[in-house]
Parts: sequence; structure tokens; C-alpha cells
Amino acid sequence: MEPVIRVNDLSTYFYTGAGVLRAVDGVSLHVDPGETVALVGESGCGKTVCSLSIMRLVRPPGRVVGGEVWFEGRNLLDVSERRMRRIRGDKIAMVFQEPSLSFDPVYSVGAQLAETLVQHKKLGRREALRKAVELLKMVEIADAERRAASYPHEFSGGMLQRAMIALAISCEPRLLIADEPTTSLDVTIQAQVLELLSETSQSLGSAVLLITHNFGIVSRYAKRAYVMYAGQVVETGPVHKLYQEPQHPYTADLWASVLDLDRPKKTRVLPSGKGISDLVHEDSKCAYFPLCQHRELECERERPELVAVDSSHHVLCHRVHSGGSVHVKQ
Ligand SMILES: Nc1ncnc2c1ncn2[C@@H]1O[C@H](COP(=O)(O)OP(=O)(O)O)[C@@H](O)[C@H]1O
Ligand SMILES: [Mg+2]
Repeated sequence: MEPVIRVNDLSTYFYTGAGVLRAVDGVSLHVDPGETVALVGESGCGKTVCSLSIMRLVRPPGRVVGGEVWFEGRNLLDVSERRMRRIRGDKIAMVFQEPSLSFDPVYSVGAQLAETLVQHKKLGRREALRKAVELLKMVEIADAERRAASYPHEFSGGMLQRAMIALAISCEPRLLIADEPTTSLDVTIQAQVLELLSETSQSLGSAVLLITHNFGIVSRYAKRAYVMYAGQVVETGPVHKLYQEPQHPYTADLWASVLDLDRPKKTRVLPSGKGISDLVHEDSKCAYFPLCQHRELECERERPELVAVDSSHHVLCHRVHSGGSVHVKQ
């Protein structure tokens, strides 16, 4: 089965005064048709920059410096900006953490939904407005006809998030990238929105890349996940394997702190008592070395390479050798 999207060795750096920050550092991932795959990791590990790189929305001082993003037989990093604009919001849609990135405050929600349909689906204005109301109903917005005429600020956070999902699915995308779609919502609404996201993507057959810092969400909504740390995918595999036999100490640490994950980002710390300080790390060691409770001499001397634990499970850790397995569960 051809994946909907295949990202190979993607790197995006920020050229800052403090040095070159490797926000995304050689990330490879794929999403199969109809599959929901999670990209999970601490705040600041590079998840958003990764999705922006896929969509070619990285702005200076950031730059995609290498890699490939294969989608429908084309490397998106090579296509024209014109083609990219057609792909965005049509074949690949994004749901952001912050709805204000999707909605303009000066137009009604219905008008903006309709505008997208006019542009991407070439619908007439009246037909587009009718479809917009239908989409708002689909995401369970009560009194959708009246609500379509409301402005974004007249919607509650949860409603706006659902409207953003309506906008994202309006063109029946092949791939939906949902970047922390519910982080700003309270827990009950979070569950509703994620259920809705999962149902609508399933009914449309869209593949979903679900980006989150919350392992609880991963285990509930994704079968497969990529664990990201300091710009790199440090472990990937079926979620049950990542849970039952995590190979990377960071994966184990993430599970161990899963109950902590909804605490405000600033106050949350990793088990060692440190956060990710910066991504201006050296090439010559494992990025997790400073925080790792299982580090060995080799980890400081050499950067690890991704090895296969089995055909579906890969890890970036010196302690694991191809076909082997270590026990790091705490
Ligand atoms: N515009 C920018 N300028 C400089 N650094 C940036 C910029 N945007 C993101 N970064 C850095 O890139 C890294 C990854 O950020 P991000 O992808 O937003 O993390 P995540 O989404 O996982 O929380 C962070 O260290 C962040 O500070
Ligand atoms: Mg982010």
C-alpha cells in the first residue's frame, strides 16, 4: 500500500543569533491511507515546525534545509508555490491549536467556510453557503443556519475548534494534519472534539497526522506513533509496543509522566528535573544524553542511528542493536 504521505530525512533549521537551531533534524515518517498516526513529544521538540515544513509554511529565520515530502507522486519541497497553494487546504488540511490562525475575525464563520468551497471546489456562492451550513451541522454545531452568520469571536473555544475541523474537512482532504487540536480546550470538550475528528476523518477516508504532547491522546486515537525529541524521531512503532516495550528511555519517561502531561508546560519538568533547554546540540552525541538515566559511555561519543527492533518498531538508541530489545520500562 502506497502511503498518503512519506517524509524522508526532513531537516528544518532556524538561523538565530544564538546559533543554528535544529528544530527538525532528519525526520522520516509516513501515513498510510485512512490511518491515524501520532507525532508525540514535549513542547518545543519540533512537532509544529515539522508540520509547517510539510506544508511549506516555514518562515525566516527558519528554512527547510533538506529532505523530501512525497505526496501524490511529487516531492512537495520541489513543486511551485502555485501548486502548493492548491494542495493546502484542499488535499492536505490543517487544524491548528489556535483557531485564530484559521479564521479571520472580520468575516462570519459561514462566509469563510463558503469561501474555501468556492475556491477549492469551484462551487457557486449559494451552493457553497448551503454546504457550509451542512458542515457546521456535521461538526454538531447547534442551530447551524443561524450560527453560520456569526463571527469567530461569538463562538466558544470548543465551537470554534469544531468549526475549524469543519473548515479542514470541507474539501475532503486526503491528509489532515491536526496540530494539538484540543490543547486549549477543557477535558470534556477535548474528548468530544477528538471523537468528532476521528469519526469525520474515518467517514471521509482521510489519513490523519495527529500531533500532540499527550500520550493519553496517542493511546486512545492512534495505532502507530512517532516519538519526537529535540528535532528527531527517537522511536516509532505500534502504540501498544511503545507502551509495553518502550526501547528508548525517553519513551519510557514520557509514559511515566503521562499523568503530568496536562499540567501547564512551563511548570512541567522531565524526571531528571530539567527541560529541553535548547536544540543547538552537538552532532557527536545522543540528544537525550543529558537527561538519560540509562546512558553509557558510547552515548556521549557518538550520535546513534535508527535501528529496527523488528519490522514495525524502530529506535534511535545506542543500547539497542538491530533485532534486539532492551527493557527500559520504569
Ligand atoms: N520562528 C522561530 N524562530 C526561532 N526558533 C523557532 C521559531 N519557531 C520555532 N522555533 C524553535 O523550534 C523548536 C521547535 O518548535 P515547535 O515545532 O514549535 O515545537 P512543538 O510544536 O513540538 O512544541 C523550538 O525550540 C522553537 O523554539
Ligand atoms: Mg507545537
